[in-house]
Amino acid sequence: MAFTIAIDGPAAAGKGTISQAVAAHFDFAHLDTGLLYRAVGKRMLDGMGPLEAAQTLTASDLEAEGLRTPDVAQAASYVAAIPEVRAALVDFQRAFARRDGGAVLDGRDIGTVICPEAEAKLFVTASAEVRARRRYDELVKAGVTTDYETVLNQTHERDHRDSTRQDAPLRPADDAVILDTSKLDIEAAISAAVAAVNSMR
Ligand code: C5P
Repeated sequence: MAFTIAIDGPAAAGKGTISQAVAAHFDFAHLDTGLLYRAVGKRMLDGMGPLEAAQTLTASDLEAEGLRTPDVAQAASYVAAIPEVRAALVDFQRAFARRDGGAVLDGRDIGTVICPEAEAKLFVTASAEVRARRRYDELVKAGVTTDYETVLNQTHERDHRDSTRQDAPLRPADDAVILDTSKLDIEAAISAAVAAVNSMR
């Protein structure tokens, strides 16, 4: 039986970790849809046109090396603003969502555009300051030299771009449960997410 859990929200709100944990808890398959845009962005950086890259994308492209780099993240957010690229990625995501055994998809527009009929929808968010602090700590841990103000500015910029773009802007679906993780540690956030999904089952 198919059961879709849609998890949307801005970068660094804890969406990725929560989605993985929710998928493991329910024994569902998990698709990080940001990887689709990253894979298209990476192929564009390698010289392919973004539309061709999206139209010929296969599951194995999602396992390419180097999809998590800042350059590829930039390229991903560029290609994600092209409506034809988004359209070319819809069928893959919907097929994944309706697979037998249940699926968790996380991204920006899963509950609103890709799977408006999802059985459970979560919108995971946190204040820009908290998200910037988490991202800053991650960067420092990874040995990147930066400062908190710069990361906060980038967070505001990306929020603005994601929520004001014409096509599939970042916003909670009307029927999504909002999970603000600003004051939650990761265990508490995962428990709250699982409880929210159970309440929608
Ligand atoms: O979540 P992640 O940082 O991997 O996403 C990379 C880029 O892809 C983001 O900048 C976002 O704008 C875009 N994206 C999107 N729709 C999704 C997932 C990601 O537009 N469903």
